[in-house]
Amino acid sequence: MQRIGIIGFGNMGSAIARGLRAQHPGLELGILEPNSEARQRAESELGAISYIDAPDRFFRDCETVVLAIKPQDLDPIADELRAHSTDAALISVLAGTPTERIAAAFDTQRVARFMPSLAASVGKSLVGVAFAAAADKSLRETALTVAETIGRPLEVPEHLMAAITGVSGSGLAYAFAFAHALAMGGVSTGLKYDDALAAAVMVLDGAAEVLRATGEHPLALASKVSSPAGTTIKGLTALERGAFTATVIDAVEQAAHRANELERTAP
Ligand SMILES: NC(=O)c1ccc[n+]([C@@H]2O[C@H](COP(=O)([O-])OP(=O)(O)OC[C@H]3O[C@@H](n4cnc5c(N)ncnc54)[C@H](OP(=O)(O)O)[C@@H]3O)[C@@H](O)[C@H]2O)c1
Repeated sequence: MQRIGIIGFGNMGSAIARGLRAQHPGLELGILEPNSEARQRAESELGAISYIDAPDRFFRDCETVVLAIKPQDLDPIADELRAHSTDAALISVLAGTPTERIAAAFDTQRVARFMPSLAASVGKSLVGVAFAAAADKSLRETALTVAETIGRPLEVPEHLMAAITGVSGSGLAYAFAFAHALAMGGVSTGLKYDDALAAAVMVLDGAAEVLRATGEHPLALASKVSSPAGTTIKGLTALERGAFTATVIDAVEQAAHRANELERTAP
């Protein structure tokens, strides 16, 4: 990777720029961002080069360009830039926007698509990665390297991006809801909410770390902590009495269904 360009230095654009700067200190960063405050932050914090007055040079200088604008801004921005973006290597993070649509808007077939989550801001996002059929080897390699700077890439065929949204993009919110529910259980059994929430966050953090470190199946780990006639089996039984597994599966299916619906009806 030599110079990566980023269009839109908002939440996602800045998370990717920070990840790139941290993991690849020698890399040059170019940005196209109309907001002067955001631009100055990118320049002073990350040493990024602004190309706001020279989009032609932006596309000439940057080997790969990350598109991190809002989906509703796609058409006006593409109309402004299309004259310079023919055959550019693009990585789009636009939710619900097919690679085909990005390819047509920017006049290039070299398109990768990311589905990250809010956890990109702390470098812990699962990043669904899909490629347009004509994406070349160099774009594929660069895209996976860029995805690693905000978390962990998972390459999938594009039709599975909705499943990634259901499990990961929206899944973060289910985990937040679970943290709150666990904390409320703590309150119900005598803890202060703040203490119970701190405990719940450690539970999620610890569970994730143990799953990663051991590589064991989640059910094998759950049965390890469930002693005969003990406390955990009582809790697990209560969860299943409330249809915990079926409810979570349903949540993922509903979110993925909605992601597909939004993608089909997008302008
Ligand atoms: N945030 C998430 O957790 C998340 C998760 C998955 C996918 N995404 C996707 O990531 C994309 C960006 O989301 P975000 O949350 O980062 O939005 P955001 O914070 O609003 O960032 C968009 C940035 O693009 C800038 N912009 C506007 N017009 C531009 C132009 N003509 N040229 C260049 N830049 C321009 C905006 O500047 P102004 O502020 O001046 O308008 C803003 O800095 C979206 O498509 C979203 O679907 C986000």
